[in-house]
Amino acid sequence: MTIIDGKKISDDIKKEIALEVEAMIARGEKRPHLAAILVGHDGGSETYVANKVKACEVCGFKSTLIRFEDDIDEQTLLKTISDLNNDADIDGFIVQLPLPKHIDEQRVIEAIDYRKDVDGFHPVNVGRQAIGLPCFHSATPAGIMELLARYEVPVKGKNCVVLGRSNIVGKPVATLLMQKSRPGDATVTVCHSATENLADYTRRADIIIAALGKPGFVKADMVKDGVTIIDVGTTRVPDSTRKSGFRLSGDVDFEAVAPKCAFITPVPGGVGPMTIVSLMKNTLLAANHSIYPKK
Ligand code: GUN
Repeated sequence: MTIIDGKKISDDIKKEIALEVEAMIARGEKRPHLAAILVGHDGGSETYVANKVKACEVCGFKSTLIRFEDDIDEQTLLKTISDLNNDADIDGFIVQLPLPKHIDEQRVIEAIDYRKDVDGFHPVNVGRQAIGLPCFHSATPAGIMELLARYEVPVKGKNCVVLGRSNIVGKPVATLLMQKSRPGDATVTVCHSATENLADYTRRADIIIAALGKPGFVKADMVKDGVTIIDVGTTRVPDSTRKSGFRLSGDVDFEAVAPKCAFITPVPGGVGPMTIVSLMKNTLLAANHSIYPKK
């Protein structure tokens, strides 16, 4: 059994990016610049955005954090997005999700210029990804594919079961896994809250991508020996032994399931760091106009 070290891989990739940024600066080019919009004070979102800002520093990027209170109106948010779309110094930006209920999340995503959509959430990027065209791949699915590639996990022809059908993880990772590419070429099944006899699918899986947000959902009797498991879950569960009062829990009962696995990602230290580094890679691609030509 191999525990996949997402932290180490992400640190290696950040070093590679930092070297490339140094070379860009030496050539007289502009420093890549990522902006993040954070609305409200959700603990998880605060942590994610702080980690994204920190990763920008490590990579040598400029970063700008724009904060709003929960009661911001949609028009103000849309105006800020329009300003970022038109700001030539900003290469890419993200709006951290979830947003407060009174704001139409889809309208916000569609307001982002797809050429600066380094989260890969805009329908143009989602659509281009679905048909295998160059685009900004959404960060978590891209990070998962990078882990499978770097650990040389066999994917071609394998039975992959994705648990969860979110727009951010489940749907896009299913598309990437079935794409005729490497890694890819898998037979993909997506299970969700309406799936009947879900364990019948997971027991036949060579690879399970667990992205449901249900702590410890995948149990040892739901998987076969030799399975590879990528655990995307990061639910905060109360833990009085921690200074923070919580710990992060994945969707997999790690202690019980890990002995049956060929490869498994831990939580934390698996997919999480890869999501952030994929965002950094997209920002570099945006700064270099590698996906879409300069406006
Ligand atoms: N919320 C949870 N994951 C993400 C992400 O990858 N990007 C953004 N913008 N919001 C998120």
